[in-house]
Amino acid sequence: MDLYAFELGRKKELCLAELLAVLGEENLVEKNLDTAIFRLNETQTKNLQGLQNSLGGTIKIVEIFAEGNQIKETVKKYLEENFKDITGKIPFSVTILSQKNPDEVLIKTLLISSKKILKELGLNSRFVNQNSKNTKPSTIYKARVVEKGVDINIIYGIKNTYIGKTVAIQNIDAYSLRDFDRPKRDAKVGMLPPKLAQIMINLALPQAKEKETIYDPFCGTGVIPMEGLLLGYDVIGSDIDSRMVEYTQENCDWLIKTFKLEKPPTFRTFKNDARFLAKTDLPEKITAIVTEGYLGPALTKFPTEEEQEKTFRELANLHLNWLKQVHTLTPKDVRIVTCLTAFKKSTSIIHFPRFKELANLAGYKIENTYSYDREDQIVVRDIVILTKI
Ligand SMILES: C[S@@+](CC[C@H](N)C(=O)[O-])C[C@H]1O[C@@H](n2cnc3c(N)ncnc32)[C@H](O)[C@@H]1O
Repeated sequence: MDLYAFELGRKKELCLAELLAVLGEENLVEKNLDTAIFRLNETQTKNLQGLQNSLGGTIKIVEIFAEGNQIKETVKKYLEENFKDITGKIPFSVTILSQKNPDEVLIKTLLISSKKILKELGLNSRFVNQNSKNTKPSTIYKARVVEKGVDINIIYGIKNTYIGKTVAIQNIDAYSLRDFDRPKRDAKVGMLPPKLAQIMINLALPQAKEKETIYDPFCGTGVIPMEGLLLGYDVIGSDIDSRMVEYTQENCDWLIKTFKLEKPPTFRTFKNDARFLAKTDLPEKITAIVTEGYLGPALTKFPTEEEQEKTFRELANLHLNWLKQVHTLTPKDVRIVTCLTAFKKSTSIIHFPRFKELANLAGYKIENTYSYDREDQIVVRDIVILTKI
């Protein structure tokens, strides 16, 4: 069986788009409430934790070992076949995916029956689930269930019920290290989450080849260049503010050391206004432009209509000019993934007005847009994918 389920992160549509870009649309078997099932080839399954680490929008990867409704019997058979030669105490969990209200009776039944089977095999098991509820992925990660024990998943798909075990899980420590412990942070320039930077890079380079060069013309503290390096790509970052250029440089140096990147890809930074780029600034063959862009002034309260208009007007000018510049300096097939400012008030979002016309004027068309918002934020990001007309 070569089916794998990918548990999607918070913004499901965006997380699925990343998977389609990386794994290929033709390999999608089905998309459910909170998972997407893909058929993977041999190369893709060689290093599943590596694949997981490269996907900002996937919470965990589950290897499907059976399909159908004989859940209890299938899990019993799986445990008997796979745990007979193992000794010691193992952490164990059961997760139900793609079911609106996970069936707690089933979780409890599976936990009790599995404990009994494991005991008969001479193994002590420790449930990670509490009160027959699904366990948070972070708890599964912290209890090292994937390495030391087993997390059994029942996935209620549209076409079938799938049964599988978690084979890779989001490394929350590595994300938090990059996010909070990098040497340079600056709350004023915004805090692009490393996971979102990864998603944006993957969207910009569908079916990426080994040799890719990413350019971020608004690099700030360097989250996109850092994630680009980790994914194995050469990166270039520039910013109008020389302090930011230094920050990116220092953060990238730190990343290479801290994450012990062997044969690290190359990176360079320079100071520049993205509206006035020259050919000599970018002698390399750029294969993707990934940037958060400038989002406008930081806000503490919701902007008035006039303030919104002013920000949109200023940003329209900036976007038109930098897009025109990179249009002349990059080959035809270079995609841009950038963020547009939007304002969020409770559940409604005011999006950037007339961006389609602006992008067309600069020589680009919009391939797709995905909103990325958080509950407590006023300024939110619309992720937009642009290709040359
Ligand atoms: C939202 S921040 C980017 C944050 C970045 N993603 C990070 O990881 O920290 C926007 C950046 O754009 C820069 N900027 C603003 N106007 C610019 C321009 N015209 N050209 C180049 N950079 C500009 C700012 O100095 C700021 O660092």
